[in-house]
Amino acid sequence: DVVETTEFITANELADLLGVGVNDIISVCMSIGLMITINQRLDAGTIELVAEEYGKEVKFIEAEEMDEDLTIPEDDEEDLKPRAPIITVMGHVDHGKTSLLDYIREEKVAAGEAGGITQHVGAYQVVHNDNEITFLDTPGHEAFTAMRSRGAQATDIVILVVAADDSVMPQTIEAINHAKAAGVPIVVAINKIDKEGVNPDKIKTQLSEHDVIVEEYGGKVQYAEVSAHTGQGIEDLLEKVLIEAELLELKANPDRRADGVVLEARLDKGKGIVSNILVQGGTLRVGDPFVAGPCFGRVRAMENDRGKRVKEAGPSTPVQLMGFDEMPQAGDKLIAAEDEKLAKEVANERMQIRREQAMRTTKHMTLDDISRRL
Ligand code: GTP
Ligand code: MG
Repeated sequence: DVVETTEFITANELADLLGVGVNDIISVCMSIGLMITINQRLDAGTIELVAEEYGKEVKFIEAEEMDEDLTIPEDDEEDLKPRAPIITVMGHVDHGKTSLLDYIREEKVAAGEAGGITQHVGAYQVVHNDNEITFLDTPGHEAFTAMRSRGAQATDIVILVVAADDSVMPQTIEAINHAKAAGVPIVVAINKIDKEGVNPDKIKTQLSEHDVIVEEYGGKVQYAEVSAHTGQGIEDLLEKVLIEAELLELKANPDRRADGVVLEARLDKGKGIVSNILVQGGTLRVGDPFVAGPCFGRVRAMENDRGKRVKEAGPSTPVQLMGFDEMPQAGDKLIAAEDEKLAKEVANERMQIRREQAMRTTKHMTLDDISRRL
């Protein structure tokens, strides 16, 4: 039995949802060590636990759907226009993701990175044979699981990079799992093929063991052998990625309020809060008020991936955005609003919920501590 809800509904609302009295909810919560009040908002974990007591499974709907006035109505088919595919490059640390993107961009980003390790999700747009492609680079270091997960979710296709002189490694497997969880097709790039004595067959076999089966092994996964140093095979890789993209018939409506996702955010001494955003639908313009998670903002300025000021950004475009009032988190969904007042209200409401949530968690921990001591 499945019930649908958003996170952070009150105990009262949960009672209605499950068709029981609110006192029942309160006693179930007490039995699991949670003191709650009728109007207290409950987090996902608690909602799930309580529902389970009543033999119900919970399906969480996007929190955005709570703020109905801000929700973007579903696009009409006839308003949709083709958009650039969003490709995320993933793989184990040092297998050559950034180098591959550098070659594709014909710029040297890897050289400028601290220790050659990707610090964040870089986002770039390139044009290949008249086709625009948006690339997201992700770090392979094990500490960045969340970034890879978000990368996979914001993406249409994953390029899985495996170094030919190495093997399928933990973050290779993790990337495969992220792609699968997000339902995103994988194109395999076996990199560093320029190195002496490498054995791509070994890697293809290892990939098969993780259900990534390339065409010559009887599977459906597209595959290219490449070198980010010599450029060998990169044309082939891009062609295969574009074939895969074509199958997806990617479209978006550029003529509406924008929505997108925060890829990263940081505090810049001169510019204030600077955030890398990927616009997914609509067009974001300078002056637009917006909400991202619990943060309000107004687009003060935008720069494209080459550091050039732009006035607007359409679907599949990564931009660096200035204009946040507060620091958003990577993964926050951004929605542009028609009027500033509404955007502020929604942001405030969400901030309020987060605070209540944080307070409740603290209380909960205190209670746990007490019971442990008893
Ligand atoms: P993280 O971002 O730290 O996960 O690494 P990455 O996957 O982005 O790897 P990066 O591009 O930084 O490359 C790692 C090392 O491999 C660098 O020293 C590159 O010069 C080298 N490298 C990358 N591609 C190739 C290639 O095709 N051939 C050879 N020989 N070396 C390569
Ligand atoms: Mg890198």
